[in-house]
Amino acid sequence: MTQYHQFDAVIVGAGGAGLMAALHASKTANVAVVSKLYPTRSHTGTAQGGIAAALGNMEPDSWEWHMYDTVKGGDYLVDQDAAEILARDAIEAIIELEHMGLPFDRTPDGRIEQRRFGGHTANFGEKAVMRACKAADRTGHMILQTLFQQCIKNKVNFFNEFFVTDVIIEDNVCRGVVAIDMATSEVHVFHSKAVMIAAGGFGKMFQVTSNAHTLTGDPVAALYRRGIPLEDMEFFQFHPTGIYKMGILLSEAARGEGAVFINGKGERFMERYMPTLKDLAPRDICSRYIYVEVREGRGIGGKDYVYMDFRPETINRLKSGPGGKEVTREHLEKALPDILEFARVYLGIDPMKDPVPIQPTAHYAMGGIPTDSDGRVLADNSKLVAGLYAAGECACVSVHGANRLGTNSLVDLVVFGRRGGKHMADFCKGAAFAPLPAHAERDTVAEFDRIRHSRGDERSAVLRNTMQKTMTGDVGVFRNGADMERALDIIRELKGRYLNVKIDDTGKIFNTDVLETFELGCLLDLAEITAAAALRRTETRGGHAREDYEARDDANWLNHSMAYRTANGAAVGVTTGEIRFEKKPVVITKFQPKERKY
Ligand code: FUM
Repeated sequence: MTQYHQFDAVIVGAGGAGLMAALHASKTANVAVVSKLYPTRSHTGTAQGGIAAALGNMEPDSWEWHMYDTVKGGDYLVDQDAAEILARDAIEAIIELEHMGLPFDRTPDGRIEQRRFGGHTANFGEKAVMRACKAADRTGHMILQTLFQQCIKNKVNFFNEFFVTDVIIEDNVCRGVVAIDMATSEVHVFHSKAVMIAAGGFGKMFQVTSNAHTLTGDPVAALYRRGIPLEDMEFFQFHPTGIYKMGILLSEAARGEGAVFINGKGERFMERYMPTLKDLAPRDICSRYIYVEVREGRGIGGKDYVYMDFRPETINRLKSGPGGKEVTREHLEKALPDILEFARVYLGIDPMKDPVPIQPTAHYAMGGIPTDSDGRVLADNSKLVAGLYAAGECACVSVHGANRLGTNSLVDLVVFGRRGGKHMADFCKGAAFAPLPAHAERDTVAEFDRIRHSRGDERSAVLRNTMQKTMTGDVGVFRNGADMERALDIIRELKGRYLNVKIDDTGKIFNTDVLETFELGCLLDLAEITAAAALRRTETRGGHAREDYEARDDANWLNHSMAYRTANGAAVGVTTGEIRFEKKPVVITKFQPKERKY
């Protein structure tokens, strides 16, 4: 029996963006948060090194410099009206978090302490600046705990371990969502005036990734399947410092504290490529040069990795600590407790004694659901979907363009989660409940029955492994036409085979077999769009580095790509048919595109 609920606003996802939105919307609206995880397990909790805001607590800083760095870091594909809001509102949002009780690190005189991060500079690129506010290397964890407590205080309703499968949109009006209670497989329809999708990224399409197992983009795929375009999907960020082979993140904060990259010849190679910012150049650039070193035979022992060296004696010898100051082991243990522990636990290496093997890891989707700066979702380049919002990694506002700066993801969550939440609250005051269509849950029930009872001979795990290997191998840090064409063929073949998947567990209680198979279908759709968008963009820009088109091509490609589904067919379940692409202009206000040098 389908269960029905009614709330003014439903928020899908309980990470930083979802909780910030819930908190603000719940000041006047009756809000439900529907999440496939218990809220404090959301992926925001793994964000380590910091959240940027030009507070200027350590040295002079300004929001204009932050905006400039964001635009330049994104290789000028950033919408500059949105980047201005990001940089300005960051300051207010951080103070708001501080007043909620977030335990930021403090300077001796009690102000929020800040550290350096890649691509953040003073005076329009002159030198690295300390802009990242932090709680050791557990910044995201602290944001999540703080916001969750505030939401409980504000009487937000939580539906934890509820898996959203579909978004109900009719006549361009959003009316709610369909979800499965993971504990019982019971179907629930949430009827609402407004819906926000804040469900995080979809890095599990890659083999080596810093993303948690749950980051499968289900509500992003749901919107695409219902005809909403996806923006700039070709831009996926590879964070340079994943633990070798595992992809687990070792925060860029380590380099903020003075750590350096070292190749197989013992050289600090980033000095050669980026003489001003060196190891603190943006992530796309560092990841690319790690690959170049490896390809040219200067990986460690000729292998496919390099070292991150954060031994105090190395940092002090190279004077790479903040402001060239000496660092001590005690300071690093206090500033980076989690990642030092990760290296010790996962690699059996003590980073205070030995350098740590790292390689680039798929980290962050710059693209996603197109929104305006209040989080409202766009049905095309200009038309809004009434009552539908998105914020956080799954959304594309677009403040990250072709490459996101470290710490700007947490800023994005709190700034645009907050704006979206406030806008939803106002929208709900003036809106009525649009009627639900008859049997809103019908497509979900049909797809889950199909998966549960399929008698095919394919296995989800096999298809998933092939997809992940293909995406990492052929749509990774370096890309070329031939590899991406092969990747697209493979993904499309996998989509066909997916319809023939057989599962073992046909029960109803925590049936992860069914849910993981459904997640795989979502990832296959998103992987196909990512590969197709990357193949189509014949230039190199930010995180999209093509070996066959090595230059940035502003004449033809200074525009966003919008991917639309064309075919009809199942609206909950993998799509068929071609993807149609259109262009959308980039908003340029203060900073004209220039060559990126650091
Ligand atoms: O390196 C890090 O701490 C990651 C931060 C981010 O992705 O913004």
